[in-house]
Amino acid sequence: MTAKIIDGKNVAQAVRLDCKRRVESLEKRYGRAPGLAVVMVGDNPASTVYVRNKIRACHDVGIRSERIMFPATVGEDEVVRTIAGLCANPVVDGILVQLPLPKSFSIERVLGAIDAEKDVDGFHLYNVGGLVVGNTVFPPCTPYGVMKLLEHEGIEVAGKNAVVVGASNIVGKPMALMLMQREATVSICHARTTDLAQYTILADVLVVAAGHPNLILGPMVKSGAVVIDVGINRLANGKLVGDCDFEGVSKRASFLTPVPGGVGPMTVTMLLVNTVNSAERALSRAASSMVSASV
Ligand code: GUN
Repeated sequence: MTAKIIDGKNVAQAVRLDCKRRVESLEKRYGRAPGLAVVMVGDNPASTVYVRNKIRACHDVGIRSERIMFPATVGEDEVVRTIAGLCANPVVDGILVQLPLPKSFSIERVLGAIDAEKDVDGFHLYNVGGLVVGNTVFPPCTPYGVMKLLEHEGIEVAGKNAVVVGASNIVGKPMALMLMQREATVSICHARTTDLAQYTILADVLVVAAGHPNLILGPMVKSGAVVIDVGINRLANGKLVGDCDFEGVSKRASFLTPVPGGVGPMTVTMLLVNTVNSAERALSRAASSMVSASV
C-alpha cells in the first residue's frame, strides 16, 4: 500500500479563506474585525517564530492582532494584571499566552487569568473540562486541526481503534478526548509505555505527538492505517522531520501527514477559527443586549 499524503497546507488555505469571509462579514455587520492579543514572556527562539507566524496569519485574514512581549525578568503579577486588562477590553476577542513560560511562573495561575470566553488556545481549565464532557467552548488548536484534517479526508473514526502516542496537555490528552467524543476506542501511549509497537500495530488511526524522530517505523503500523504525524523535530543537518519514518510508514498506511506541511499549518489556522468564533459570539451577544435594552 502507498499512503495518500494529506496536504495540510491546502486544507489550511481553504479554512483560512472561510475565516477571511467571516471577518469581512463581521466588519460589515458590526463595524469591527475580531481582535487577538498574544502575550509572550522571554525570548525563546521557537516561541518567537510561532508568535510571528500567528501574527502574520491574523493579518492575512483581517484579524487585528496585538503582540505583548515581556522580558523573562518580568514578575508574574504584572503578566496577570496585563491579562486582566485584556479580559476587560471589549475589542479583544481572543487572548493567547505563548508557552513555555519561565520556570518560576505558575502556568495554572497565568492561564487561569484568561477569561474562558476569550481562551482561544483552549488551555483554561474550564475549556479542558468542557472537552471532558464533550461541550468545549474553544477546542485546543492542534488536535482540533487534526480532527479537521480527518473530516476533510472523509475519515470516520467511530468504532475504530485510535492510538495516541504522547500524553501532553497541549496535544495528546485533548486529542484522545476528541477522538473518544467521536466514538473511537482510544489508547494513549507515553514515554513510560513498554513495547509501544504492540499498541501502534492495532491502530486504525494513529496520532503521534511524542517529539522523537523515527519513533514510528513501518512495521509498527497496521496495513491501511491512517497516520497523523504531529511531531516537529529539527535534525542536526537542519532538516525538519516528524516522529514517523516517512518512507517506511508511507508504504503501510492508507493516509499519512507529511512534516512539514501536514498538521503544522492547521494549528495556526484553528487559532484563527477560534478567534473568529469568539468574535461572532461576543458581537452578536452585544448586539442582542443592546436590542433588549432598547425595548
Ligand atoms: N507552545 C507550543 N505550542 C503552543 C500552542 O499551541 N499554544 C501556545 N500558547 N503555546 C504553545
